[in-house]
Amino acid sequence: MRIPLAQPEITDADREAVLRVLRTPHLSFGPMLPEFENATAAYIGQSFGVAVNSGTSALQLAFRLLDLPPGSEVILPSFAFVAPLNVILQEKLRPVFVDIDTATLNITPEAVAAAITPKTRAIVAIHTFGRPLAMDRLRALADQHQFALLEDACEALGAEIAERKAGSWGDLSVLAFYPNKQITTGEGGMLLTSNPDWAERARRLRNQGRDPALDWCQQAEAGFSYRLSEMNCALGLAQLRRIEAIVQRRQAVAEVYDRKLAGIPEILRPALGVPRGRISWFCYVVQLAHPLGQAERDSLCARLLAQGIAAGRYFAPLHRQPLLAGEKHLPIELPVTEQVAARVLALPFFSQLTETQIQEVTDALSEALADLRRKT
Ligand SMILES: Cc1ncc(COP(=O)(O)O)c(C=O)c1O
Repeated sequence: MRIPLAQPEITDADREAVLRVLRTPHLSFGPMLPEFENATAAYIGQSFGVAVNSGTSALQLAFRLLDLPPGSEVILPSFAFVAPLNVILQEKLRPVFVDIDTATLNITPEAVAAAITPKTRAIVAIHTFGRPLAMDRLRALADQHQFALLEDACEALGAEIAERKAGSWGDLSVLAFYPNKQITTGEGGMLLTSNPDWAERARRLRNQGRDPALDWCQQAEAGFSYRLSEMNCALGLAQLRRIEAIVQRRQAVAEVYDRKLAGIPEILRPALGVPRGRISWFCYVVQLAHPLGQAERDSLCARLLAQGIAAGRYFAPLHRQPLLAGEKHLPIELPVTEQVAARVLALPFFSQLTETQIQEVTDALSEALADLRRKT
């Protein structure tokens, strides 16, 4: 792709940080691990960070720590990346999908409140595309109804709501550092909590369940192999040092897109801000205006791809996925999710995207839309 959908920002300082690790014998469980964990937890505003090899691993550890009875209901959006659903199913829990708001593409406290039943034990609150949820209201709902608040800030490092960072509100929160994210470790993720017992157990679980207090060959519980190497941690730490600049540059890229797309009637642009906080843009996703739908969206995607411009359909509704075909309580009706999923178009988005590249993308998009107009 001439203009990719996402691209990591790797500087000489990042390369040097990784090389410094490679000049030592400590490639795992060295000094970078606690340094990265502590710096991230401090940035977010949680007491403990437990670095793991992916955001999904962090989610899996979170559910292990919650230790919910099988069949417990977990509320989540259907318009989302598949990772939370995968973990919910693997942990033998029951997904309860709620609809989203057309403008924010996020679940709302009202929709969550309406989905609560006596079996609700947790919610996965996802800040979709980096736009923060009303976490103060979700926190209040979780406290009132006594279910766990698992905050999935994988797409939202640096986002803020009510003067707190995304990731600081959850009983357990998760981050992800795949190369399309605001900062990357190559592969990686982190579990955050302010509960010291959970942090300690998560550290055991990520390393086969080994208890540092026991002899190396004595096994206290069955764990996972979810460690994150020193090279990954060094890269993450170097990137975290410039997270504020990254968030600002991504906001500036979104603003350029907004200006250049402003005159196109078929394109609905995402709002550039939120009332009580700050977006940390994960990607830039527009919607096609009615009556354009899935067929037009797919043809626009194909046309951009043919010109070397990556464009994606982020996301397909989870409640319609074949992996849920056997679930008796599905399908359910989530009209906004279905309408939105048919019309979203993710455009190339990363912090180093230039104005010239954005112009190329928006020119290609308006030409393709003009052709569609001529055909109808
Ligand atoms: C909302 C959300 N949760 C979890 C994940 C999983 O992260 P990973 O791909 O590192 O496993 C992602 C990844 O993009 C995500 O967007």
